Amino acid sequence: MGRLQNRVCVVTGGGRGIGRGIAERFLAEGARVWICDISTTELADTLAELAATGPIEGSVTNVTSRSACQAMFDQVIDRWGRVDVVVNNAGGGQGAAFLDIDDALWEQDITLNLTATFYCTQIAARSMVARGEGGSIINIGSTNGLRGQAGLAPYGAAKAGVINLSKSAALELGEYGIRVNALCPGTILSGGEYDDPANETLSHLRKHTALNRLGKVSDIAAAAVFLASDESAFMTGHAMVVDGGITARQLTMAVTPQFQAQAGSQFAKRAALRQEIAERGDQSDDSGTDQQHEHNPPESHR
Ligand SMILES: NC(=O)c1ccc[n+]([C@@H]2O[C@H](COP(=O)([O-])OP(=O)(O)OC[C@H]3O[C@@H](n4cnc5c(N)ncnc54)[C@H](O)[C@@H]3O)[C@@H](O)[C@H]2O)c1
Repeated sequence: MGRLQNRVCVVTGGGRGIGRGIAERFLAEGARVWICDISTTELADTLAELAATGPIEGSVTNVTSRSACQAMFDQVIDRWGRVDVVVNNAGGGQGAAFLDIDDALWEQDITLNLTATFYCTQIAARSMVARGEGGSIINIGSTNGLRGQAGLAPYGAAKAGVINLSKSAALELGEYGIRVNALCPGTILSGGEYDDPANETLSHLRKHTALNRLGKVSDIAAAAVFLASDESAFMTGHAMVVDGGITARQLTMAVTPQFQAQAGSQFAKRAALRQEIAERGDQSDDSGTDQQHEHNPPESHR
């Protein structure tokens, strides 16, 4: 029995990348999955490729249109009677220097990433409220919604909006048993690219993680399964970061040579201390008092 057995799940932008990976994992967990995409070919290819793995259907839907979103949810409800889970995944950003951003670019990024998420969250939530059995809405944000990035201001602003929208919606929809969370990926190789150590750009990105690797679609899909399932039943209004540790780092501190030298000497002191404790432990093995040393070291060791 899968963790999403028979649940009706809608994934926007499911024709490729992260959305496709989430659809595939949801199917593996027993869900009935509806994907939509603006690209007819991406949608058709994914539907054909995943058809053998479980009940999957889809529509060519441009999520930046409220009426198109409404038509899609009507279709899903006609087909399967309800919506349990929505992943608002369709999105993306266009690079531009701040001084060169024009209104059209600003609008496009805000509309695709934020307004479309609002449309689908509201339309799905209305159907969930009417049915009275709750649901889970997962809005794909980004670490760009938590930190600034030169060249991606509209995208970052939209993703910050997605996180805040999720929190406000969670507060209002909690009484209906509807959970709303944001899922914020770091750098994900969403086209299935090889994390090539010889590639300079990838290496630059990789070194900002704590795990020394870039993300895979499966990393985000696993988190989406968790947020969709009852395992996260007490989580709502949360922004879950899945970034290999990128946002854990205080970059300005890490790059100061003085700080690194200071930290280096602290690390060396601690290593010497660990060694000393280990040696004392070895000696005390004979006297049978090693546990006391480990849990209650002498004052000078604290
Ligand atoms: N890849 C990353 O490193 C990364 C990092 C953080 C956040 N994200 C977010 O994750 C989500 C998916 O990213 P991805 O890398 O898989 O992107 P992608 O470009 O590979 O896939 C996006 C899919 O959405 C579809 N789409 C685009 N506009 C649409 C519209 N108007 N209506 C319906 N479908 C539309 C595209 O056709 C495509 O199939 C996005 O919201 C993105 O901002 C990605």
